[in-house]
Amino acid sequence: MTDEITQFTEILKNSVDEKRFRHSLGVMNEAETLAERHGADKNKAKIAGLLHDITKNLSVPEHLSLIRAHSPNEDPEEVKSPNLLHAITAPIVLRNKLGIKDPEILSAVRRHTTAKPGLTLLEKILFVADFTEPNRQYADVEYYRKAAREDIDKALFLGLRWGLGNLLARGEYIYKNTWETYNYYILNFHTADYIAEFQGKTERMIP
Ligand SMILES: [Fe+2]
Ligand SMILES: [Fe+2]
Repeated sequence: MTDEITQFTEILKNSVDEKRFRHSLGVMNEAETLAERHGADKNKAKIAGLLHDITKNLSVPEHLSLIRAHSPNEDPEEVKSPNLLHAITAPIVLRNKLGIKDPEILSAVRRHTTAKPGLTLLEKILFVADFTEPNRQYADVEYYRKAAREDIDKALFLGLRWGLGNLLARGEYIYKNTWETYNYYILNFHTADYIAEFQGKTERMIP
């Protein structure tokens, strides 16, 4: 590990709980693998992966006070959802406390919950690594991991569709960026092929 990564790892360890820390290391490793596979900057992918959830354990009042002080023009429709706050406050902490100025790292962290139409490669990698990292355990995770290595857009769309399905099933709030990203993929990618391939996954996953 570089000195920088070692130092950030130590800071993260003191900022989040044990489960979140393990998840973050998993996302760092998965993001590095995907960056290597798809030709993105590996160091930026690792830093974004390691630190994307650094404010996850803050309370809602702590998030809101950071946002008021450092980013008061955020969309109130996004600030309303407690689940989305950490993606607004993590880039603030990265910039102000850790001295990370790289706009690609900061925007990848900023978009990792809701996504947005037309994500950069690094933003896609972090979004996908978040749900395919090695500690994740759910039905079909192996399929998503394989898809992530083959075609990052396929993995992103299928993961987004799965995430939206979960939010709908639980009756939870869905921020407009997430819907817009879903529709962007429907309109601009061969998403029917992605779904058809996914639905036939069982046969193909048998070695
Ligand atoms: Fe997160
Ligand atoms: Fe995460």
